[in-house]
Amino acid sequence: MKTKILKIKIPTDRKILIAAKIIQRGDLVAFPTETVYGLGANALSAKSVRKIFVAKKRPFDDPLIVHVSNEEQVYELAKGVNLRSKLLMDNFWPGPLTLVLEKSKKVPSITTGGLRTVAIRMPAHKIAHALIEKAKVPIAAPSANLFGKPSPTNARDVFEDLNGRIDCIIDGGTTTIGVESTILDVSSQRAVLLRPGKISTEQIEKIIGKIDQHTLIKKKGFNKGQRGGQVAKAPGMKYKHYAPQGFVILIEESTNFWTQVRSILPHYKNKKVGIITSTKGKKHHGAVVKFLGKTPQMAARNIFKIFREFDRKGVEVAIVQGISEKGLGAAVMNRVRKAADKIEG
Ligand code: TXA
Ligand code: MG
Repeated sequence: MKTKILKIKIPTDRKILIAAKIIQRGDLVAFPTETVYGLGANALSAKSVRKIFVAKKRPFDDPLIVHVSNEEQVYELAKGVNLRSKLLMDNFWPGPLTLVLEKSKKVPSITTGGLRTVAIRMPAHKIAHALIEKAKVPIAAPSANLFGKPSPTNARDVFEDLNGRIDCIIDGGTTTIGVESTILDVSSQRAVLLRPGKISTEQIEKIIGKIDQHTLIKKKGFNKGQRGGQVAKAPGMKYKHYAPQGFVILIEESTNFWTQVRSILPHYKNKKVGIITSTKGKKHHGAVVKFLGKTPQMAARNIFKIFREFDRKGVEVAIVQGISEKGLGAAVMNRVRKAADKIEG
């Protein structure tokens, strides 16, 4: 299959219609959102959604997020949308918050990986919004990477993974946030944070009060590593994710980082080593050193980009300096911990 690339800068560009038609005829379009690029298909067509799993080589039990352009679509897709969900939508949509709700019959079971719930979000990105609107259907879209690889933050990343496997890529430039949306399960009485993202726990709690943190997110659980037998609440969370090809070592405690690096390096003498640090301008003999960024925002924008750069350079061991978990820092650390493979199913 030849992958068509549409360069689109503004949401009124008529090329959006070409992409919308591809969705309508049941095929796949990768498109930018404010978080990462998504790989979209008509969420209501089982046949179309199946193509997403095949193109990404994604396991069928890992459910997708359904993207909407207006609130009416939520009521079509979900049941039991109560005041709490409504408050969250009013405060954070359009934007990087995904809500897990009880699904309606309209949503094919393949879209939700067989679950009785459906994950929904209304993206803030103008091109994503225009695409959903013109396609006139909700769009199921996981991140537009091959399964297990870092999420794509620009069209080139998508091309690298999916060229020849999908029909179309909308090139709308680099995404601004750089890590995936916050996922909040509001399908039962206690709201549970399933994945940290740009919308923080504090922001959510200001609106709906105390929420639970899923055990796979809690720091202690990660450090100890989860043992087999535990059912992952967000099914995607049980898989190794977001990872570069190389082996990832996360040094959680960021003080003495360079001392620790010096003690680790002799063990990897014959390997290509990459280092991700929050110290600007640092060099280290024999290693590729990348600056993660001064702020949590910059770190979020850079983390997947650097993982992908390491892959291009053939980095075999990546040593990462932990950052503070304030704001987006929590999301960045969550992704790095997963890449460091601290979670088992
Ligand atoms: O920012 C984002 O959320 C991006 C953009 C494209 O919107 N999308 C994204 O999708 O990150 P994906 O598939 O890479 O991650 C979706 C996560 C998976 O871990 C999946 O298990 C979880 O959402 N998920 C989806 N439906 C769920 C459900 N019904 N219950 C619990 N978790 C669910
Ligand atoms: Mg993903």
